[in-house]
Amino acid sequence: MSNAPEMIANLEKLGDEFLAVIRPLADEQSIRAAQAQFLGKKGKVSELMKELGRLPAGDRPLVGAAVNKVKQTIEDQVQSRLVELADAVARQDLARKVDVTLPARPIGGGHLHLLTQVRLEAVQIFAELGFVVAEGPQIETDWHTFEALAIPKDHPARDMQDTFYVSEEIVLRTHTSPVQVRTMLTQPPPIRIVAPGHVFRRDDDPTHSPMFTQIEGLAVDVGISFADLKGTLLHFVKRFFQRDLGIRLRPSYFPFVEPGAEVDMQCSFCMGSGCRVCKGTGWVEIGGSGMVDPEVFGLCGVDAEKYTGFAFGMGLERMAMLRHAVNDIKFYYEGDIRFLEQF
Ligand code: DAH
Repeated sequence: MSNAPEMIANLEKLGDEFLAVIRPLADEQSIRAAQAQFLGKKGKVSELMKELGRLPAGDRPLVGAAVNKVKQTIEDQVQSRLVELADAVARQDLARKVDVTLPARPIGGGHLHLLTQVRLEAVQIFAELGFVVAEGPQIETDWHTFEALAIPKDHPARDMQDTFYVSEEIVLRTHTSPVQVRTMLTQPPPIRIVAPGHVFRRDDDPTHSPMFTQIEGLAVDVGISFADLKGTLLHFVKRFFQRDLGIRLRPSYFPFVEPGAEVDMQCSFCMGSGCRVCKGTGWVEIGGSGMVDPEVFGLCGVDAEKYTGFAFGMGLERMAMLRHAVNDIKFYYEGDIRFLEQF
């Protein structure tokens, strides 16, 4: 049978005991656990309180006050220990030495897609020569895509173009050449435009994709000659590849130019000595070109007696491929970060 003074002494002892338990604890979780061990339902203080009922009624208020006191003491200690810990963490943080000479952590930022880089660069190079950017729709009329470029419906050249038809008269443009037509119809010479953009063909293999990117060029003025065409393309190749590469214009047929020529450049991999990329020839094809056919001028409202012009069209994927050794056109469109972040 306990008596009041003994219980009060035991309660005080519990207070001291808690102090000893909590002092070495250094994290909130174990402090809370210790708190529960003393103040919880089955805690040490609660155990003592069970004996309260066995005391003579007159002693109970005194012992009750002692219980409240020890509870308060424990609560206070928990509180102050937690504050101490938080302070220590803050102090440690402030005392941390920062080595400002350490290299910065790389920031994982994005960048322009390789094809976008190549397009912007190509546009920039032509801009230096006085060309401005022109645009046209990707869903285009048959007339702008073919007819106005002297490719009537029964013309064999249509077979070269594997067209996606939206309807009889509407197509996905197979080349950027209709932008030539739109430009000539809406602005009088002198004209100097480049038109980069997506084009579509029913074609799908390692070097062809149903959608790809071309850049078209058109210059119309009094006295424009084939030499201007060659000079423009040569300058472009040298600037784009930043090397002294030659070009050659190989006679070829495109219905909308006369004469027409395929544009080859010296292989940027072997500098023209012959390798796998150029199949040992030293030359790689980069596009088509020629002098605007007077018939096209007629269809587009340009005075063929007064003006001459040159035009060219090149594939931008191919440009990027030749400069960065990309061997499958699919890499450009798959969005694989491991591929893209190399550029
Ligand atoms: N449009 C042609 C094609 O995609 C390329 C081309 C050839 C464009 C000759 C031209 C040109 O402007 O003069 O196959």
